[in-house]
Amino acid sequence: MVRKSYVFVALLAITAMLAGCAGAQGANEVEVFSWWTGGGEAAGLDAMIADFATNFPDVTFINSAIAGGAGTNARAVLASRLQAGDPPDSWQAHAGQEIIGTYVAADQIEPLNDLFEQEGWLQVMPATLIPLISADGNIYSVPVNIHRANVMWYNPALLDELGVSVPTTWDEFLASCEPIEAAGKICLAMGTTWTAMHLMEVVLLGELGADGYSALWDGSGDWGSADVTAALGTFADLLQHTNTDAAGIDWQDASKLVGNGDAAFTIMGDWTDGYFSGDPAGNNLGLVPGEGYGWAPPPGTDGVFQFLSDSFVLAKGAPHPDATLAWLTEAGSKSGQEAFNPVKGSICARTDCDTSLFNAYLQTAMADWSTDRVVGSLTHGVVANDTWKNEINTALGLFLTDRDVTAFQAGLVAAANAYGP
Ligand code: GAL
Repeated sequence: MVRKSYVFVALLAITAMLAGCAGAQGANEVEVFSWWTGGGEAAGLDAMIADFATNFPDVTFINSAIAGGAGTNARAVLASRLQAGDPPDSWQAHAGQEIIGTYVAADQIEPLNDLFEQEGWLQVMPATLIPLISADGNIYSVPVNIHRANVMWYNPALLDELGVSVPTTWDEFLASCEPIEAAGKICLAMGTTWTAMHLMEVVLLGELGADGYSALWDGSGDWGSADVTAALGTFADLLQHTNTDAAGIDWQDASKLVGNGDAAFTIMGDWTDGYFSGDPAGNNLGLVPGEGYGWAPPPGTDGVFQFLSDSFVLAKGAPHPDATLAWLTEAGSKSGQEAFNPVKGSICARTDCDTSLFNAYLQTAMADWSTDRVVGSLTHGVVANDTWKNEINTALGLFLTDRDVTAFQAGLVAAANAYGP
C-alpha cells in the first residue's frame, strides 16, 4: 500500500516536471512547414536550421516538412490544417499569386512590415520582388531565394558519345531524340503531373516569347489563339519522348536518369543543381557542374529568366509568434541565405550575398538574374492563384491521359475565363 502511494506521488512529480519542461520549451519553439525533405532540398533547409541554432540558440526548430516535389502533398496537408484552424507557425510559400491571391485573399497570414523595417530588408531585397509579396501596402512574406524554372539539364558525356549538340529550337530537340532513342536511351526525363506542368510552362514561354507568355496571365493574352495551339502541339510531341514511368516518379528520380546517363535531357528548376552537385551522403548525386551535368536555356527562352521565389510567412493565429519572428529574421538574414542557397541550388533573394560561395551553375544564374528579362512561373506560384492553377492542373491531368490538344486548349480557355484576371 505504502509503496504504491510513493510510486504514485513520484509519478505525479515526474509528470509535473515534464509538463513544466514542455511548457517552457513549447513557448520557445517554432513549427515550420515546407516540402524540403529529399535530395537537393533537405540539405539546404538543414544548413539554414544549423545557422538558426547559432543565431537563436534558445528557439527550438520543429521541422514539419512533408515529402513531395513542388509541395503537392505538403500544400494539401497545409490546406486542411488551415481549414481546421490549426496553422503551423510559418510555412513555405511562393512569392506572387500563391501569397497574394491565395493566403492573403483568405486572410491566413500576417503583415511583416515592421520586421522589414527593423531588418532593413527593403534596402537589400530586389525592388521587383516586393510587389509580388505585398498587398495594400503590407508586405506578407520573407523571400529566402530566387529559383530559375527554365533550365534544360543534360548529360554531356551521353550527348558527346551520340554526336548530339545541345538543341536551340524545339524542332532540333525533337530531331535529337532520334539518335538518343536509337541508342536505347530516354530523350526527355520527366516525373509526375507537376513536372509535366513545369515542362508545359517552359514550352509556352519558349514558343510564345516573354510578352506572349506574360499576356496569358495578365488577362491581355488569348488562350484560344493559334500560337497557344502550336505550343501545346509541341508539348504533346515532347511528351512522346519521355520515360514510360513518368507518372510514378518525382523530380529527383527523373533528374537521376540524366545524371546516370540513362536519359539525355530533363527540363526542371535549378533545385536540380543542388541535387546533382550535392553531397551523396545526403541523397544527392555528387556530380561536378559542367562535367557530370550541363545546362542551357530551353529552346526559345534564352535571355529570359522564368523565376520563382521561396519565402516564409507568419500564420494568423500562430501559436508561437515571437519564435516565428526569430525564424523569419533568420530566413531573411545574410548568414541564413548564404548557408541555404549554395546547397539548395538557388541564388539569394538578398542582393548582398558573397558570390564566391556559389558553384559554376549558380554563377550563371546570378548573372542572368541581373540581366535577363524576368517572367513568373505557373507551377511554382507566381502567375496564377491556387484556384486557377488547380483548374489548369485538372485539364492537364486529362490531357496526359487522352493527349487531345483541342480539348486541352478548351479546358485552358475555360479555366482562364472562370478564374483569370
Ligand atoms: C518548388 C520550390 C523549390 C523546390 C521545388 C521542388 O516549388 O519552390 O524550392 O523545392 O519545388 O520540390
